[in-house]
Amino acid sequence: MPSSKKLLAAMQRAAEILRSGGLVVFPTETVYGLGADAENPAAVARIFAAKGRPADHPLIVHMARRDHLSQWSRDIPPAAFVLARRYWPGPLTLILHRACRVPDRVTGGQDTVGLRVPDHPLALMLLEAFSGGIAAPSANRFGQVSPTTVAHVREELGDAMDFILDGGPCRVGIESTILDLSGHQPRLLRPGAITLAEIEAVLEQPVIPQGNDALRAPGMLRSHYAPRTPLYLVPTGHLKAEICRRLRQGQRVGVLAMPATQLPESCLRHHMPPHPAGWARELYAQLRALDQQGLDGLLIEAPPSGADWQAVSDRLARAASAHTTFRF
Ligand code: TXA
Ligand code: MG
Repeated sequence: MPSSKKLLAAMQRAAEILRSGGLVVFPTETVYGLGADAENPAAVARIFAAKGRPADHPLIVHMARRDHLSQWSRDIPPAAFVLARRYWPGPLTLILHRACRVPDRVTGGQDTVGLRVPDHPLALMLLEAFSGGIAAPSANRFGQVSPTTVAHVREELGDAMDFILDGGPCRVGIESTILDLSGHQPRLLRPGAITLAEIEAVLEQPVIPQGNDALRAPGMLRSHYAPRTPLYLVPTGHLKAEICRRLRQGQRVGVLAMPATQLPESCLRHHMPPHPAGWARELYAQLRALDQQGLDGLLIEAPPSGADWQAVSDRLARAASAHTTFRF
């Protein structure tokens, strides 16, 4: 850990770079972000260029404190204050009607803006030092797996950024839950560590579940979090037979499985933790590591179907959808 003096100097430097229109990579509890001054359209445009991201895909504005909500949005429903009090700082993004200070560049021209207060000490220090909003997507090339370490960011973006704050591996590991509060009823746009059931319990009202047609967000595109190696989700009962079939064909396969699942020695295998939070934390790093092995296929044991697994299952389904999904 750097001394507090060094840390403070790094923060001041990073904040200065943001002020002068530069790009700063910073850790959050979910994944690494590629940040720019949310009120500087030219700086925000650099994010889209660095990621190769289409201009109509909106960015999340990160804030230092939950009471900044009304600086960045308007017509705020009571549900937003309730959720902000309960979950911020934390892995929840709220979609609200935007305040006029939010440029078109950030929202892709939409009348709404995504807002969140990240739960990471370095992100919060940076936001305080900068004292503005930081527009930041995940720090990966468009369509690739989100980075959960600085090494991943470098693989993705090379030197497209002006400064990097290294906070080690991200604690949550998958992107924030996104809840749209701009309509009549709350709607889940992207599942995350905070589940639909938890939000319904806090709000004491139903939330419209994530729909197949909800393509308003790029994270909602069917294949968005895709490794390059063909990826197949395989039900537990079929996993061993499928691995053996491929090995007999001379294929090199990588496998991610539940702890109790027995696997043949001759595949590249990794047992994941037994719970959804563990899968979320390890998933992207494991997919990246396997993707670099030049394998013929990645076989992932399909996780249980419970509500707690929704976010992990969502990311796996997207990673698999670029290739043929395994069907029995
Ligand atoms: O955990 C996270 O949310 C990370 C960290 C860095 O905060 N960020 C992240 O950003 O995942 P990004 O850009 O990779 O994904 C943000 C998602 C996109 O799918 C985007 O379309 C959606 O949020 N989004 C942003 N503003 C929106 C809006 N006004 N309406 C609907 N969706 C929006
Ligand atoms: Mg992303």
